[in-house]
Amino acid sequence: MTRQLAPLALGGHRVWPPVVLAPMAGVTNQPFRSLCREFGPGLVYVNEMIMATGLVHGSRKTRTMLHFGPDESFRSLQLYGSDPEMMTRAVHLLGREEAVDHIDINFGCPAPKVTRRGGGAAVPLKRNLLRAIVSGAVEAGAQYGIPITCKFRMGIDDDLLTFVDTGLICEESGAAAIALHARTATQHYAPSARWEAIAELKQAVKSIPVLGNGDIWEAADALRMVEETGCDGVVIGRGCLGRPWLFRDLVDAFSGTSPRVTPPLGEVLDVMLRHADALCAHLGEDRGIRDFRKHTSWYLTGYPVGGEMRRRFSEVSSLEQLAQLAGMLDRSLVIVDGGERIARGHTNGPIKVVLPEGYLDHLDDMTVPDDAAVVALSGG
Ligand SMILES: Cc1cc2nc3c(=O)[nH]c(=O)nc-3n(C[C@H](O)[C@H](O)[C@H](O)COP(=O)(O)O)c2cc1C
Repeated sequence: MTRQLAPLALGGHRVWPPVVLAPMAGVTNQPFRSLCREFGPGLVYVNEMIMATGLVHGSRKTRTMLHFGPDESFRSLQLYGSDPEMMTRAVHLLGREEAVDHIDINFGCPAPKVTRRGGGAAVPLKRNLLRAIVSGAVEAGAQYGIPITCKFRMGIDDDLLTFVDTGLICEESGAAAIALHARTATQHYAPSARWEAIAELKQAVKSIPVLGNGDIWEAADALRMVEETGCDGVVIGRGCLGRPWLFRDLVDAFSGTSPRVTPPLGEVLDVMLRHADALCAHLGEDRGIRDFRKHTSWYLTGYPVGGEMRRRFSEVSSLEQLAQLAGMLDRSLVIVDGGERIARGHTNGPIKVVLPEGYLDHLDDMTVPDDAAVVALSGG
């Protein structure tokens, strides 16, 4: 029997079960979120990461990423930025335009390009800078009723663990909740997430919800994470890639309903085609179908369709061709044993995380990292 969880409070909004779709750059755009929401209405689905500087400077590309559908009554967005002033201005801008209902801040980006300049996962090392970013965003958000949450990793590596301090600083600065991706930046996406860090953070941070993130592939993993760590809710990343019905399974699991079997390939293909249609309507067919190629491999993961078919899907160039390819597959195929747990999306790690020269000698300073290099990166 799983511990009964309280709804997640984000401002005046209550979310139950406390399940959040993780922001994933290049993935969690409006068509993907809407599809996930069909399976799990009422949960939090976070938009792709958006650059605070891009927003403030009126970048067209950033603007086009700020897109919510009519079904999105609770609009959630992740902001990236390492400059307190830019972040505060971006929150004001979003608030004045009544563009969002919740903002998450990304402090976990491990990309070498970013950390080399002191941005992303390097920011939590500079506690004063971190505090200034979070408290500025919280103060600005409060003027418009926008709650601010923060998502971060365990630290740079095992010698530079920052997550407990980061959690405490976010709590003191007025964040509504925090989420820990239980890996260091050096781990990148491998090896496994270290849920014991979530438990440690939960012990330390008493007054705001602590959400756990990392390696929830099936609904049972979420229940286990809650049991093992005491966390107040879960954040779902790669587990839902090609498997948006994971959100239905999570609602079932937290409601005490027995798990459903993973759908046969036919049902998966029907969802895949709907997703492709929606993405092409959103981005235009040419761009949409190219962007969709990665999704085909995620939808087919675990189904024994053969390497040649996978390759053909990965080169698909129109919606019509996608439907033709789907029509060639045996709809009765079932997923292989353990197929749900095959890692998708990013899988590599560890990586070498580079900090600016002398960065660790001046951890109290407030030098603002240059965010220019982070544009078009895949965030977390
Ligand atoms: C394709 C991809 C893009 C991501 N982009 C972001 C991002 O923009 N912001 C962020 O905070 N995390 C990002 N992440 C990290 C996820 O939000 C999540 O923390 C990570 O995948 C661990 O959870 P998981 O093990 O459930 O996948 C990304 C992950 C993937 C796979």
